[in-house]
Amino acid sequence: MTLPSHLSKTSILHSFLLFIAILFAPSFTLAAPSSSLRGNKTDRLALLAIKAQITDDPLGLMSSWNDSVHFCNWKCVICGQLHQKVITLNLSYHELVGSLSPHIGNLTFLRGTSLEKTYLQGELPPELGCLLRLKYLNFSNNSFLGELWPISLATLALLYFG
Ligand SMILES: *[C@@H]1O[C@H](CO)[C@@H](O)[C@H](O)[C@H]1NC(C)=O
Ligand SMILES: *[C@@H]1O[C@H](CO)[C@@H](O)[C@H](O)[C@H]1NC(C)=O
Ligand SMILES: *[C@@H]1O[C@H](CO)[C@@H](O)[C@H](O)[C@H]1NC(C)=O
Ligand SMILES: *[C@@H]1O[C@H](CO)[C@@H](O)[C@H](O)[C@H]1NC(C)=O
Ligand SMILES: *[C@@H]1O[C@H](CO)[C@@H](O)[C@H](O)[C@H]1NC(C)=O
Ligand SMILES: *[C@@H]1O[C@H](CO)[C@@H](O)[C@H](O)[C@H]1NC(C)=O
Repeated sequence: MTLPSHLSKTSILHSFLLFIAILFAPSFTLAAPSSSLRGNKTDRLALLAIKAQITDDPLGLMSSWNDSVHFCNWKCVICGQLHQKVITLNLSYHELVGSLSPHIGNLTFLRGTSLEKTYLQGELPPELGCLLRLKYLNFSNNSFLGELWPISLATLALLYFG
């Protein structure tokens, strides 16, 4: 008699926890996009971090990335009209030398980035795998090491629950 009641207690506990999980799961997934809308400073910081890892810029692109101009008007940067978040970053053909900052993973609204014929080296940041809106990533003629990272369940879980 005691054993079944004990079992039913744990199963009640289990279903309660499951219920909590179900209750909170949608709010976590809803919280993800709205929290990424919070503030417009993150994208600027990410772009500045990308700039900081460019060691040579013969065509002077990065000098246009300065504080006298809003980052949405920096060359090669395109923002969405409503939310002032970067949606496209096209650094192609600017002969940039350096590496690609992992901070690119903070451009949460990024839909596409072109890095053709930039001379960037090093690792292609795995943080790119966190960009759920990313539709294209054009990087022919670079010197990246490593491979493209598929979005893993772990990064998805981090995005939604982290
Ligand atoms: C952030 O948004 C506010 C309000 O729209 C604006 O005044 C401010 O200049 C923006 N800052 C950046 C860095 O975009
Ligand atoms: C800042 O960028 C603008 C264009 O985006 C450019 O006209 C200006 O000369 C730049 N300022 C400096 C100090 O480089
Ligand atoms: C990126 O910019 C280059 C010129 O700098 C242009 O030729 C190319 O079409 C652009 N790519 C995309 C995907 O916008
Ligand atoms: C952006 O990304 C970097 C590296 O991926 C991280 O260290 C940083 O805390 C992130 N957030 C902001 C707001 O810059
Ligand atoms: C680069 O991306 C653009 C935008 O989607 C695409 O139209 C173009 O075909 C791509 N270029 C290459 C070489 O894949
Ligand atoms: C890559 O760049 C080199 C040197 O500029 C050029 O000779 C080669 O054709 C390029 N390859 C592609 C696939 O664009």
